Amino acid sequence: MTALTLSTAAASGLRADAIVVGVAKGAKGPVVAPGAESVDKAYDGKLASVLETLGASGGEGEVTKLPAPSGFKAPVVLAVGLGAVPEKDATYDPEVLRRAAGAAARALTGTKKAGFALPVEDAGHAGAIAEGALLGAYSFDAYKGNGETATTDGNAKAAKTAKGKGKDEKAAKAPLADVALLGGKPRDKAYKAAVERAIAVSEELNRARDLINTPPNDLDPEAFAAVATAAAKEHGVKIQVLDEKALAKGGFGGILGVGVGSDAPPRLVKLSYTSTKAKKHLAYIGKGITYDSGGISLKPAGHNETMKCDMSGAAAVFAAVISAARLGLEVNVTGWLALAENMPSGSATRPGDVLRMYSGKTVEVLNTDAEGRLVLADALAKASEDKPDAIVDVATLTGAMMMALGGRTFGILANDDAFRTSIHEIAEEVGEPSWPMPMPEHLRKGMDSPTADIANMGERMGGGLVAGLFLKEFVGEGITWAHLDIAGPAYNEAAPFGYTPKGGTGSAVRTLVRLAERTAAGDLG
Ligand code: BES
Ligand code: MN
Ligand code: ZN
Repeated sequence: MTALTLSTAAASGLRADAIVVGVAKGAKGPVVAPGAESVDKAYDGKLASVLETLGASGGEGEVTKLPAPSGFKAPVVLAVGLGAVPEKDATYDPEVLRRAAGAAARALTGTKKAGFALPVEDAGHAGAIAEGALLGAYSFDAYKGNGETATTDGNAKAAKTAKGKGKDEKAAKAPLADVALLGGKPRDKAYKAAVERAIAVSEELNRARDLINTPPNDLDPEAFAAVATAAAKEHGVKIQVLDEKALAKGGFGGILGVGVGSDAPPRLVKLSYTSTKAKKHLAYIGKGITYDSGGISLKPAGHNETMKCDMSGAAAVFAAVISAARLGLEVNVTGWLALAENMPSGSATRPGDVLRMYSGKTVEVLNTDAEGRLVLADALAKASEDKPDAIVDVATLTGAMMMALGGRTFGILANDDAFRTSIHEIAEEVGEPSWPMPMPEHLRKGMDSPTADIANMGERMGGGLVAGLFLKEFVGEGITWAHLDIAGPAYNEAAPFGYTPKGGTGSAVRTLVRLAERTAAGDLG
């Protein structure tokens, strides 16, 4: 991954391929942002007018490259747009800086080193710029060329046999390797901590992206569990993997019912991070369908090409638990990865079958494509046995949520209004768009089954809310619970933007990490 350091170097003296500066959108044209004063001076104070001549406005995400002033060791200055100039006495919103750093890092693909001279007014700004740069520099190329940059076990395995683009083309697309953050305070504890936090979370988030992007023929439930086992060992996290035999013995009818049609058997992974100083316990549950074909209720062509992303919830939970361990948070975090492959076959669950779930409830499977709620239901019931202070599940659960909120925003459902509001605020704080959604009780009767306790499908209208009502029934009595439906933002099929690449995004990782931090700090109930 890209390396990042806080540097005391002056922009002019930094040996690098480019110096990144910020440019805001002023009332009368572009305005050079704080942090780039010395760069502007080297252009005789004319950087803003040069940028204007080149057509730059300072709009968010805009990138303009120009030759560096004479005397600079770096040959290029890259100006990245920051949008509106902050109000008088206000500073830049960290998310604006995070996105700008991401856009700059993406524009520097194929170069080795860059100095970032963006506005840094406090440690929070330094952390945001570090995060944006590290997340923006991400690329997934394990299956291109000779695979020298394979990043996960799954990738490495596949990359050995992958053929495709040559070495030169690969070098041109290699992510920015080295970032020097200028203008911060490298010896200040708060700055150091903010940057170290950004590095840990970004590395784990990028690993989640790798898992999501890995093709489903290389990442089945067993392979995912193996990656989790290696990482858990490395970071001192306890791990327990239930294989198909253990799942059968334990009565996990939901996970088994989804996985039974596949040649690759399901797994339930429990990751336990504990702190001796913990006062609270959070349980995170991730939907981990390594491929969702729909099963016997097969998805039509056009709806299954990206369904390797259906384990994005499990990838986010995995990244969040390992991040909590790396940061040494004073809270216990248990991660549950409900892993299965949803395939049609002679052994697959049929529409009309009834499953006996881990909780003892029976479910009539009316649509095998509503599989996420089945694996989650077992994990919710199992996780409830530990009586955590709160449970949060994360899932690419419904196309309906994507219809409602679009491709960048996740929906938050909960059995506790205050908890739902907290998560919404936390998501906002870390730069993840989300929106609170209701669970109207009248939608429950659509899931009444003549045969079983409940059906896995109800009314089509409000499908994302129906799914939430289903899950709610498997949460242990009295336990605070929230459900994040990340079907929209988990996988970006459009062009990259800010620090978000094409493909797996790592949606919800930063919300889960911040929730753990806030819980550790005693900020929440
Ligand atoms: N994994 C899908 C939901 C999904 C759709 C995620 C598009 C990301 C992008 C889920 O398993 C599913 O198929 N849901 C069905 C439920 C329906 C059959 C009740 C859906 O949303 O159509
Ligand atoms: Mn499905
Ligand atoms: Zn699914």
